[in-house]
Amino acid sequence: MDYNVAAQKMGRKLLFQQLKRLNPDTILGVMAKFRADTSPLKVDLGVGVYRDLSGNTPVLTCVRSAEQAVLAAQTTKSYVAAAGREEFNRAVEEMVLGKAHAARRDRRARTVQTPGGCGALRVGAELIRAAAPDVTVHVSDPTWGNHQPLLGSSGLRLERYPYYDAAAHRLRFGAMLERLDRAAAGDVVLLHACCHNPTGADLDPAQWQEVAQLLTRRRLVPFLDLAYQGFAVDLDADAAGVRLVAEQVPEALVAVSFSKNLGLYRERVGALIVIGENETRADACLSHVLQIARSIYSMPPDHGAAIAAHIFASPKLRNEWIEELNLMRARIADMRALLAQHLAEATGGGSFDFLRTQRGMFSLLGVSVEAVERLRDRHHIYMTPDSRMNLAGIMPHNAHYVAESIAAELLAEPAGA
Ligand code: LMR
Repeated sequence: MDYNVAAQKMGRKLLFQQLKRLNPDTILGVMAKFRADTSPLKVDLGVGVYRDLSGNTPVLTCVRSAEQAVLAAQTTKSYVAAAGREEFNRAVEEMVLGKAHAARRDRRARTVQTPGGCGALRVGAELIRAAAPDVTVHVSDPTWGNHQPLLGSSGLRLERYPYYDAAAHRLRFGAMLERLDRAAAGDVVLLHACCHNPTGADLDPAQWQEVAQLLTRRRLVPFLDLAYQGFAVDLDADAAGVRLVAEQVPEALVAVSFSKNLGLYRERVGALIVIGENETRADACLSHVLQIARSIYSMPPDHGAAIAAHIFASPKLRNEWIEELNLMRARIADMRALLAQHLAEATGGGSFDFLRTQRGMFSLLGVSVEAVERLRDRHHIYMTPDSRMNLAGIMPHNAHYVAESIAAELLAEPAGA
């Protein structure tokens, strides 16, 4: 008897019959649509990857050198450990928290290598859930499209706190504080450490101070997402918010990614730093983190972390890296200014000046989903439906075209849309 018929007789459906086809992830969906577009005019302002002047996402020179050295020295492909490479973890902790941070001095920080920043966010969420399944994680409104799936899939409840007014192009800092002030003690607050994704609008030092005080006073736990260290100002300045907050609170988590600043996107290189109240608690957290890692992916991939560790340990390659990072940051800042200038000319106003001061790869254009679709369908310009633009996709040769296209579609926009 055919399996289907037998299963039906038993009143059972086939296993995968239950599954309905899902829509693709928003950001990855834009990436796929861009790739399928054959127009020579097409401009990719979608997925957050750095692009050089020719539109390529390059392998950094320091990465090429380190990769050769790593391969030449490699004698085995045997397992490393659930925590990944020790030398990588030590270097990351120092780079993020700084040499003399109180949490390190008091031996309260524990760092493990993870499969990218996403792995760190997910392992961190699982740790939170193991510790307190009923806490709420407060995420900014708006936030990166993958925060909800990554954190929410662990079973944690997520709520949004006001962060940014896309129409006015400014932070909603007062509303943010007011909302977090009402969060239950013990809740977790996800904060973008720098280069907020998708808005490019960061807290200034005084605002970080206010947030740190609120977290301490309300006994809230910060979960800091550091995916763009070095893309706003430099490695130290971009970690200042993390360092400040982590100095004032007893417990914190930091998700670190090296996808962007080392261009190691597909190698999945990241780390989770957990800070506990004291050494004993930190060790307990580490034991849970290792068990969580083992139960999800067993051990993180090694190749990218070996490259990163080699760069961190070599003064020559590290200097090369800092220079390459400076170039990437400067190019994006230049393109922000260039697009703002072309937009001012195309629209006859300065309402896009916010692009100049926001930081990192992203800014929200602040137009409707329909305008985003028209930009895609009529002009082959791709961005996410919330009108997030990856400014690294702007080049001297396409900035004018992008600005003219945006201006044309804004004029087509009904008032108040
Ligand atoms: C983005 O925000 O576009 C990047 O972080 C890539 C991703 O995985 O979403």
